[in-house]
Amino acid sequence: MCGIVAYVGGRPAAPLLVEGLRRLEYRGYDSAGLGVIQGGKIATRKCAGRIDALAARLAEYPVSGTVGISHTRWATHGPPTDANSHPHFDASGRIAVVHNGVIENCAELKRLLEGRGHAFASETDTEALARLIGEFYTEAGEKGEAAFLIALRAALRRVVGAYGLAVLCADCPDTVFGARRGSPLVVGLGRGEHFLASDVNAVVAHTRDVIYLGDGDLVALRADGFEAARLDEREAKIEVHRIEHDAGAAEKGEFAHFMLKEIFEQPQTLRNALRGRFNTEDATSVLGGLNMTAHELRRVDRIQMAACGTSWHAGLLGGMWIEEFARIPCEVDYASEFRYRNPPLGSGTLFVAITQSGETADTLAALREAKRKGARALGICNVVGSSIAREADGGIYLHAGPEVGVASTKAFTSQVVVLALLALHLGRLHHLSALEGARLLRELEAMPGKIERVLARSEEIRRIAARYKDAASFLFLGRRFNHPVALEGALKLKEISYIHAEGYPAAEMKHGPIALVDEKTPSVFLCPRDGMYEKILSNLEEVRARRGPVIAVATEGDDDLAKKADAVIEIPEAPDPLVPLLGNVALQLLAYHTAVALGRDVDRPRNLAKSVTVE
Ligand code: F6R
Repeated sequence: MCGIVAYVGGRPAAPLLVEGLRRLEYRGYDSAGLGVIQGGKIATRKCAGRIDALAARLAEYPVSGTVGISHTRWATHGPPTDANSHPHFDASGRIAVVHNGVIENCAELKRLLEGRGHAFASETDTEALARLIGEFYTEAGEKGEAAFLIALRAALRRVVGAYGLAVLCADCPDTVFGARRGSPLVVGLGRGEHFLASDVNAVVAHTRDVIYLGDGDLVALRADGFEAARLDEREAKIEVHRIEHDAGAAEKGEFAHFMLKEIFEQPQTLRNALRGRFNTEDATSVLGGLNMTAHELRRVDRIQMAACGTSWHAGLLGGMWIEEFARIPCEVDYASEFRYRNPPLGSGTLFVAITQSGETADTLAALREAKRKGARALGICNVVGSSIAREADGGIYLHAGPEVGVASTKAFTSQVVVLALLALHLGRLHHLSALEGARLLRELEAMPGKIERVLARSEEIRRIAARYKDAASFLFLGRRFNHPVALEGALKLKEISYIHAEGYPAAEMKHGPIALVDEKTPSVFLCPRDGMYEKILSNLEEVRARRGPVIAVATEGDDDLAKKADAVIEIPEAPDPLVPLLGNVALQLLAYHTAVALGRDVDRPRNLAKSVTVE
């Protein structure tokens, strides 16, 4: 979704801002713009379309100055047009704002401002905020930083909704102002320069020392220092964090796409998720970040998970493991439904939010709802310092590094592995024997090597994708532990190739979806030699009997199955609960190669954003 990059220092701002925006391109956007302090005024360039269009405009009409703000917009209020692109200005043109988030009382603010004679130049909620700040600043009758901060505070107190803001005031030409509520902002600390951005990836090429702003924080950044305060006048909590990855981690390198790079990174990211988390002596996992004692964990009698999209699929699988290993009932909700469902949450309920970005608006709202009702809330997150990581009572980081491709791949694999560690941990405090615990640890340790074997089949999978790429619709079918992977395989295919796909529990087919089967509709069966093997083979026969082409994801060396399927993708043998991880990597590659064969924009599929920070 929208991105913010701001700079104050000694270097020309515009090239740094454009470079920072490019590093946020993966989040999805439809217009871009910047504002730079130049000769005591704010010079702005902005346009609908790609960052290349903004760069071209800057080449034609350059701006100079060392203090600036910039933005990539993902339209919410008004279509992507030049006029709706950020920055937006107050009535005097001396205050400029870039904004992520949504101002919910925008209609009311606009009415109030129109009553005072304002005529809006755009359809955005952001312009209402810029004009409101300007109103308070003019009313103050004084100029300069102290007066401006008072006006900024006054305006923000009138705002209902979410924002991450970078603001310029031409009367304070050496300062970038920032404010956050509900939409992430991070300060990058350089030598003689500071950055403000919505995502660390925008600043990591320049500094790895950052401060994650909290909700209600305000900052005033100058080249040689900064001040932080809070909207509610309490003291701001400022902690400097060191980013673990370098800029290279968010670059494609030799790979054609970020998605392919991230699929191939999985053996390593999985090792990172497991590192330091094995306690072989007690046949359990070490999860210090949970911030819960063994006694507290033993008293957990129900688990409620909430997540969206791919993370929800990870939750489905994790939930099955928790019930299997720990015998604790576990419910997994779409976060968007959970937040309005009013479920009973007793004191024995442990709430778990699963999220790559840590910023998904629905998942964050679900976490807050669970906390409000007294549940202890954990976050399983990838992005360090994200809103959910900060607001959860404890949690587990994925350590998967930046995921840039819009379609989540390596984060899913790490989420399920981390959930396996949680299931093991709870299991060993409840019902799981030491022998079973030790076996699970050994099998988890073997997974990166097995994933490498699936990746080695990428070229075979590419050929299968080329054969079926023109199908109008696909079915993905699996049973028990493979059901969430069928759902995930269908999601991956549809979001990046735009081919309609449905995931189903294979036996459920007969109750409706089988009507879709014909000789042009491929069915992808997840049928490794596991406890459901015989059962799913009957479902496969039902599809064959109706002339449906079958692509089987099968255990290496399963020659019987090879005779029944039109195409086979082999995966190594693994215990029933873990085999879905391998099938999933195969399906990631199938979706990737299909999308490439169709010439799709794999890393930036249409209409999608990497981090969905609006409801
Ligand atoms: C699909 C995908 C999305 C995300 C969903 C939740 O490939 O990436 O479905 O899984 O938007 O995002 P996070 O995990 O950041 O909460």
